[in-house]
Amino acid sequence: MRKLFIAGNWKMNLLRSSSQALLAQLRSSLSDVANVDIAVCPPAVYLRDAAEALTGSNIGLGAQNVFSQAEGAYTGEISCGMLLDVGCRYVILGHSERRAIFGESDAMVNEKLHATLRSGLTPIVCIGETLEERESNRTLEVVSSQIRGSLAGLSNEQMEKTVLAYEPVWAIGTGKTATPGQAEEVHASIRSLLATMFSDAVSQKVIIQYGGSVKPDAVADLLMQPNIDGGLVGGASLKADLFSTIVQLASKIHK
Ligand code: PGA
Repeated sequence: MRKLFIAGNWKMNLLRSSSQALLAQLRSSLSDVANVDIAVCPPAVYLRDAAEALTGSNIGLGAQNVFSQAEGAYTGEISCGMLLDVGCRYVILGHSERRAIFGESDAMVNEKLHATLRSGLTPIVCIGETLEERESNRTLEVVSSQIRGSLAGLSNEQMEKTVLAYEPVWAIGTGKTATPGQAEEVHASIRSLLATMFSDAVSQKVIIQYGGSVKPDAVADLLMQPNIDGGLVGGASLKADLFSTIVQLASKIHK
């Protein structure tokens, strides 16, 4: 049985006071949830404050990006060691916004992934097709190629520790959630691909989140699908009531 995992990706939103208020609300509204893994990923400058606000809670802390090198002349970048040092446990890698706006390739994501796993942080690796790719029936081809490139060179043990997030680009921030059927089709094919790249047993252990306009009204039907193991939530993770409701709904799913 895979434990459902809901993570909030705050992106470049909120300021110090609003992020502290959100964390305080989440901390109290989610304190009873034990059967779902929960994480929030605030902007890097607020990670240290967030770690303090979440100390002793059931909400893990993640970053939205990291650089592959341990230290050195890399102006503006942050290392895995620094993220661990301020209390992070997770890091999102290869989000479609980083791929599209900041030019991250599968090869760059792969370097970051190896550095992340070496450090002991848990990576959340994002993949997903654009609308144009879906409309030209290339979804599975694009997602497979991103998986092969981003996950190259991982051992079975490393793969088991890696979380994947299938995020169709056309669903991110658009209010257009993939239907449970559309998402499950891709999740199932990702799991079969992992079985051929690693092993069946490994593929059964990997957490594959869905992301793209996850909201309370759609989340239960998505999470009921056999191969959808959680959500990476953007917009709705900025509102305490929406994010709490999503986690509470997840905690009621038995499959
Ligand atoms: P969204 O973002 O929930 O606002 O669509 C999801 C994501 O980009 O991770």
